[in-house]
Amino acid sequence: MRKPVIAGNWKMYKTLSESVETALALKPLVANANHCEVIIAPVFTVLKTVADRLEGSNIRLAAQDCATETSEGAHTGEVAAFMLRDVGVKYVIVGHSERRQFYAETDGVVSRKVQAALASGLQVIMCVGESLQQRDQGTAESVVNGQLSGGLSRLTASDLDRIIIAYEPVWAIGTGRTATPEQAQEMHAFIRRVFAEGHSEEAARALRILYGGSVKPDNVGSLMGQPDIDGALVGGASLKAESFAQIVNYSKS
Ligand code: PGA
Repeated sequence: MRKPVIAGNWKMYKTLSESVETALALKPLVANANHCEVIIAPVFTVLKTVADRLEGSNIRLAAQDCATETSEGAHTGEVAAFMLRDVGVKYVIVGHSERRQFYAETDGVVSRKVQAALASGLQVIMCVGESLQQRDQGTAESVVNGQLSGGLSRLTASDLDRIIIAYEPVWAIGTGRTATPEQAQEMHAFIRRVFAEGHSEEAARALRILYGGSVKPDNVGSLMGQPDIDGALVGGASLKAESFAQIVNYSKS
C-alpha cells in the first residue's frame, strides 16, 4: 500500500513572516491527516525558522533545489543537501521544469543533484514532464522516459525507497489547465512500467508518483481516484493554508 504524498511547492513566494504565518495556519488544518505525508517547500531563507515552528507537527519540509556537490567548497550561491538536512529538511525537489527551462538544468545535472540528495540522507522528489509541443508531436512518453533514465541513472537498489517521482506536464503548470485524470493516469502507469523495467516489479509497485500541474481542491479527488496517482505536487493552490489543507484532506471522487 503506497502512502499518498501531498506536497506544496511555494516557489519564490513569501517572506519569512508570511511563510511562518502560512505554516502555522496550516498546522491545525492538517493535524489529522494521517492518510498522507504532508510536505511544504518554502524558499531556502525561511527553512530553518519554519522547521523550528513546525516541530512536533506532521508537516515535513522540502527544499526546492540543492547543489550538485556533496561537500562544502567554493561554489558561490549554492546550498548543499547536507546543509538542508542540517536545518531540518527531509525532502528535496529536483529537476522541476522551471529549473530545466529557465536555469538550463540538464538530465546530467538532475542526476548529480539526485545523487547528492540521497548521499545526504534526503528523500528526493524528482520532476519529469513534457512540453505542449512535445505532447502534440506525440513524443511525451519518450521525453519522460529520457528524463527518468537520465535523472535516475546511477540509482542503487537501496536508494529506491527514497525516490518519489512527480509527473508535471509543463503545459499544465500555472496555466489552470490540468491534465485530465485519464491523461495523468496513462503517464503514471507508463512511468511505473519504465521503473519496473529499469529496477524491479517490487520497486515499481512501491514507487510513489505524484501529479503536478494546476491541482486544486476541486480536481484533486478525481486525480487521486486514479490507480497510479499517489499524490500531488501543488504550486499556486499551496500558497494559501486553507486551499492546501482542502487538497490534503481530499476525498476521492
Ligand atoms: P501549479 O504548479 O500547481 O501552480 O500548476 C505546480 C508545480 O509547479 O509544482
